[in-house]
Formats: sequence, C-alpha cells, structure tokens
Amino acid sequence: MTHRSRILGIGMSVPKRIVTNNDLATKMETSHEWIVERTGIEQRHWVEEGETGTTLATAASKQAIERSGVDPKDIDLIIYATLSPDFFFPGTAVFVQRALGMKEIPCLDIRQQCTGFIYGLSIADAYIRTGMFKNILMIGSEVHSTGLDVSTAGRDITVLFGDGAGAVVVGRATDDKHMILSTHIHADGSEAEILWTEYPASARHPRISEAAMAERKHFPTMNGKKVFKHAVTRMPQAIMEGMIANDLKLTDIDMMIPHQANLRINQMVAQMIGMPAEKTHNTIMKYGNTTAASIPMCMYDALELGKIKDGNLVCLVAFGAGLTWGSAFLRW
Ligand code: UT7
Repeated sequence: MTHRSRILGIGMSVPKRIVTNNDLATKMETSHEWIVERTGIEQRHWVEEGETGTTLATAASKQAIERSGVDPKDIDLIIYATLSPDFFFPGTAVFVQRALGMKEIPCLDIRQQCTGFIYGLSIADAYIRTGMFKNILMIGSEVHSTGLDVSTAGRDITVLFGDGAGAVVVGRATDDKHMILSTHIHADGSEAEILWTEYPASARHPRISEAAMAERKHFPTMNGKKVFKHAVTRMPQAIMEGMIANDLKLTDIDMMIPHQANLRINQMVAQMIGMPAEKTHNTIMKYGNTTAASIPMCMYDALELGKIKDGNLVCLVAFGAGLTWGSAFLRW
C-alpha cells in the first residue's frame, strides 16, 4: 500500500544578533545602498559563540514538532540539509538527535546547498510513499558567518549570507487537500567550481595550508554573474516542470516560495513566468541568503502573515551551488 505525504508542522530559528548592511560597511568597502540595490538584503542574523547549526536546528525542530502534533517518540528519521555542517564529520543530524533526546532513529545528512530543502523533501516524500517511515523531521540549517571573509576581498559573497534554520515534520496525508503533490530535482556538475569553498578538502594535500589560507581559499568564492544567469534560467524551468506534471495553470498556484538568494533573481523569475508579485513571498530583506534553510524560513514567514492558507497550492523552487535546482508542489 502506498501512502502520500504532507507537511504536518513547521518551525524556524535565527540567531539573536542582527548584522545590518551599515555594520558590514564598517568592516569592508561596501554600502547599504549597493547591497539593497543589487540584492534586496537589509540585514541578516549571524551567530555568536555558543550558537551552532545544531542549536538553531534544534529550536526550529522543537517548534515544528510541537505544531505538527506528532509525539516526538513517533519521529522515525531525521534528514539534515546543510552546506555548513558543524564539523567535517560526523554529520550534524546526530547532534540534533541527541539534543532532541531522540533515541536510535536513523540520521541522514544531505548537501545540495540552496536546493537542499527541496532534495530533502523529495527524500522524505519518497520514504513516506513506500511506507518505510511514517514521520520524518526534515531540517535545513546553516551557519555561514563563521566561514566568511569579512574584508573587502570577500564582499561580493559575505554581504549575501545569513545564519538560520527551518524545519518541517513530514507525515502521512489523510486526504487529497493537504499533500505533497510532486518534487522535481536536478543537478549539473559541469560548472561546480563557480560557487564553492575549495579548502579545507580531502582532495588537497594537505587539506589546509598556510599558503591556501593566505590566498583566502578557505572562504567561499563565486562567479556572481554566471550564477545569476543560471538561476533565472533553471528556476522557471523547474516551476514549469512541476506545473506540467500536475496539470496546473499559473492561476492555480496560490503562493510561490522561492529560495532566497537575491531579491532581483526572484523578481525576474516571477516576471518571466508571469506570476503576480502578491503570489510570491520573500524574506531575504531581513535574513539574507540562508541556503538550505531559506525555503522553510520563508514558508514559515508567509504562514505567519496569513499568505498561505489551509489547502492552498504552494510552489517551492530553488537553485544553488553544484549546480543544483528543483521545485516542489504541495497543498498546504
Ligand atoms: O544561493 C547562492 C546563489 N548565489 C546567487 O544566486 C548570487 C547570484 N549573483 C548575484 O546575486 C550578483 O551577481 C551579486 C549580487 C553577487 C553581485 O552583483 P553584480 O551586479 O553581478 O555585481 P558584480 O559582481 O559584477 O560587481 C559589480 C561591482 C564590482 O566593481 P567593479 O569591478 O565594477 O569596479 C564589484 O567589485 O561591484 C563591486 N562589488 C561591491 N561593491 C560594494 C561587489 N560586491 C560589492 C559589495 N559592495 N558588497
């Protein structure tokens, strides 16, 4: 017997400390005006000592579990999506499992960067469809700030990223008005290096060196223009793919939640597919780009504002490093 899945509850968490564009302008050559004009970002949250991907994820998960109404004892898998794991190994999901006091359930860490939440949702959906698991805690959590170049040399990337976590509990659907309809995931490794962090790496001998650090290779680098172009090509494709798979018209979609990388990207994507501004939601202004956490955080915000209502048709869409991209369609 196959089952369908649905999101039963959602939660989010950000660090207390707010870093404004003007705060960054005291550390590097940048300005509030430049950042807002190119990206839409006004501020982001960055961790302080003691706050980690695990602590953010644990807070978001507790809220998601509480809102789902599922007994924590009945969660039978944790999926943790991140590009910024707390440690090289083990994966971060086990630390969240420990913090939540969940015993011996499997923990699965996945990468896929900004598309991590969509990939994770596709895994959760597939596991529930087969009946292998009944309730899955799916987390996107990121701490970028401890790995950013807070000098003028890193300004193109550093101003973009924020820390935060979003989590959902995915369980069995009990009617066809509330369910994940489909997920669509893709990757193309041919330009993997246009957005990456090269060091430390097991592919390098040694994994990290003073020379590599002197060249600032332990910080992320990006060809912003190339990434921008790919994003505004792949995101509309992923939306169209889901619309065709579900036989939907654009007007059937009540809310589009795009990954929050750049407000200009999201405005262009909406314009390209003809989606009216009031049917999309953005939170990049206050949180920056939180990669795997951005979609659940944005969905949470839209729900709080009443922009997503019971039974609404919601489209999630993402693009990110790898390159990876995808979409998910669901009835909330
Ligand atoms: O989720 C991960 C996916 N990432 C993305 O989707 C990011 C996609 N790309 C972008 O969002 C944009 O490319 C950026 C916002 C990163 C950059 O915007 P851009 O319009 O492509 O700017 P640019 O890189 O071409 O830089 C234009 C100028 C350069 O100066 P010159 O060479 O013209 O003198 C940069 O050095 O802006 C300069 N610049 C800055 N100036 C002030 C770059 N970063 C900054 C900064 N503040 N933070």
